[in-house]
Amino acid sequence: MKKTIGSTTAFLASCAVLLTACGGNNTSTNTTSNTDTNTATNTSATTGVSAPIPIGIAVAQTSNVALLGQEQVAGVKIAEKYFNEKGGINGTKIKLVFQDAGGDENSAINAFQTLINKDKVVGIVGPTLSQQAFSAGPIAERAKVPVLGPSNTAKGIPEIGKYIGRVSAPISIVAPNAVKAAIKQNSNIKKVAVFYAQNDAYSKSETEIFQKTVKDSGLELVTVQKFQTSDTDFQAQATNALNLKPDLIIISGLAADGGNLVRQLRELGYKGTIIGGNGLNTSNVFTVCKALCDGVMIAQAYSPQHPGEINAAFRQAYEQQYKKEPPQFSAQAFAGVQVYVDALKALDKKTKISTIPLNKLRTELNQQVLAGKYNTPLGEISFTPEGEVVQKDFYVAQIKMENNGSNGKFAFLK
Ligand code: ALA
Repeated sequence: MKKTIGSTTAFLASCAVLLTACGGNNTSTNTTSNTDTNTATNTSATTGVSAPIPIGIAVAQTSNVALLGQEQVAGVKIAEKYFNEKGGINGTKIKLVFQDAGGDENSAINAFQTLINKDKVVGIVGPTLSQQAFSAGPIAERAKVPVLGPSNTAKGIPEIGKYIGRVSAPISIVAPNAVKAAIKQNSNIKKVAVFYAQNDAYSKSETEIFQKTVKDSGLELVTVQKFQTSDTDFQAQATNALNLKPDLIIISGLAADGGNLVRQLRELGYKGTIIGGNGLNTSNVFTVCKALCDGVMIAQAYSPQHPGEINAAFRQAYEQQYKKEPPQFSAQAFAGVQVYVDALKALDKKTKISTIPLNKLRTELNQQVLAGKYNTPLGEISFTPEGEVVQKDFYVAQIKMENNGSNGKFAFLK
């Protein structure tokens, strides 16, 4: 039997490489940046929000999902520094309050509850997975606390409730671009095999879009293979699919499982095109499939090349700190914080937000978020009345690995 890279090993390897927020519970479940949590707990439900203004961040800092979450932590921290240096909310600083949303529903629910009830944040950016959003979102909805999903791409996220929006464009808009790009690159593609994680809401939602796009493009869907996000051995499913001689394989899963599947498909001799879904959209996947990640195509809701001052500033700050171009999950997380900052500024101009009781502020902030237009690193975005992001520009990138198998990059396709 072939050797598999365990998902935990991949996660630890990525932490070692990136030296970012992969801490254990003590450091990651209740960390705040700049100041301690006491400031946030002073925020009163009746007398107005005291400075600095607490914005909750509930993304995955532990578990395999931190392969995505650590990029989100990087993005929001850059946003906090950037907007505070620009004067915060008309002179009042913001403060991010972090609660680790971990990798499952319960940890996301706990993070949301703590941010809402103890930290008394004005709004939340999180969680990382759609699977978590369907459980944690209703908690915020009942408490009337605005939520911006930074990476939740499954169908039905804004429909969770009036207080639930997202800055991450849905897969119905993003995913088909990858299939178009694959066909453009290789017009001989005819047979397609699709894989998806059946225990994950985004993966199930994304594979439906991919399967429809395949059929609508006149391609033959030869098999649909299922796995679990906790799986590390894909020999059975990969062999089943390869027996049908596909020219294109499309994977909807997360970084650890998806990366292992890519690696095992290549090790079994598959030479055709591979498309990875949104859950594989991180350079942290390089530690899992190494040189065999080369060539994987992934649709993007962000390009580091996007013109404009704010993306230039974001990109420069990211590159200075991490020595590489910023990824989609960091840019979307930055945009989540930015939407709150811009909306709070607009609200504050109408009524000083320090005079608005927390409950009222949360509701007014939610309305203001939905009413505004935001010039973000993703481009100009706004929201439908349901809280769905409206965004113009999408891209496709292809992973290019160096021969050493450790370093690689996302090359954007024209
Ligand atoms: N896009 C992935 C999700 O929605 C991360 O779960």
